[in-house]
Amino acid sequence: MDMQSTGPADGSASVLAGITVDKSVEFSYEELATATDNFSLANKIGEGGFGSVYYAELRGEKAAIKKMDTQASREFLAELNVLTRVHHLNLVRLIGYCIGESLFLVYEFIENGNLSQHLRGSAGRDPLPWSARVQIALDSARGLEYIHEHTVPVYIHRDIKSANILIDNNLHAKVADFGLAKLTEVGGSSLPTRLVGTFGYMPPEYAQYGEVTPKVDVYAFGVVLYELISAKEAVVRPSGSSVESKGLVGLFDDVLNEPNPGEDLRKLVDPRLGDDYPLDSVLKVGMLAKACTQDNPQLRPSMRGIVVALMTLSSTTEDWDVRAFYENQALVNLMSGR
Ligand SMILES: Nc1ncnc2c1ncn2[C@@H]1O[C@H](COP(=O)(O)OP(=O)(O)OP(=O)(O)O)[C@@H](O)[C@H]1O
Ligand SMILES: [Mg+2]
Repeated sequence: MDMQSTGPADGSASVLAGITVDKSVEFSYEELATATDNFSLANKIGEGGFGSVYYAELRGEKAAIKKMDTQASREFLAELNVLTRVHHLNLVRLIGYCIGESLFLVYEFIENGNLSQHLRGSAGRDPLPWSARVQIALDSARGLEYIHEHTVPVYIHRDIKSANILIDNNLHAKVADFGLAKLTEVGGSSLPTRLVGTFGYMPPEYAQYGEVTPKVDVYAFGVVLYELISAKEAVVRPSGSSVESKGLVGLFDDVLNEPNPGEDLRKLVDPRLGDDYPLDSVLKVGMLAKACTQDNPQLRPSMRGIVVALMTLSSTTEDWDVRAFYENQALVNLMSGR
């Protein structure tokens, strides 16, 4: 079966058995080793939960090569071929892969670092203006909406966090690493799914029961919204050793539950913004984040609802009225301040 001509497959192993590999997405180990100067330290960009990432120039294009800790299996291959066909402006594109001693994933290179670095990282970077933060939220929401609702099969990211949101030179955002959680799963044994994710971003139903629905991503996205407002880490570690670590969700919940959160909310806003932000807009993003990070996954909005809400917010002429778009009354009341 030629998957190229049949379009997205349903991802089941039986259908994909006997699949022919699309050679254009397969790279040889030699090609990758040459392009990264033998995976030299100088070319290493970062390291994460699945492996290390290297900068490369491949066939005239800039690329990021992820050397995975896991090995490839036949099922991996099928999944990878599907993944190389998921294209969206707000998703980091998987160009191809190499199956050698370890598995290598070749991604398009995104020039301008990740969101975590922009919010907290290296000196010398200008602070992101508030409007850019809203745009980054909208871009990431669009990428997530796409994998939740428009791909076959649909994906749940499971590791949404600011390090997995990459920023381009125009301060637009692309979501990285979607499909990876699933990849480790199809390649794994029949053991229960290992918990993929990062502390501070995991909703209770996932951390406790391993329950995976798209609402896992919605929760983590809410935490990213709080990061965009405050530039704080998802888990706030107080300097005094006697004080407990506190999650960003708890920190914001306390403030947003006040009858008039305005002034206390100001204290949570990224100091690098100065007074250069509309409090009203920050409050709305805060309320949206609060809706996303509710304990009950069913009360959280869908990514589609979030995209609509953020679109309304970023077009400053329109009023913030998301009532028409929401699926449940509790959320509508929350967003409209009732
Ligand atoms: N396509 C890419 N273009 C540019 N930089 C990238 C690309 N992919 C990854 N990076 C950089 O490499 C870093 C490490 O990526 P990696 O995914 O291994 O770790 P992580 O995102 O911190 O954690 P996780 O493993 O949970 O995703 C990223 O934070 C990012 O800054
Ligand atoms: Mg990553």
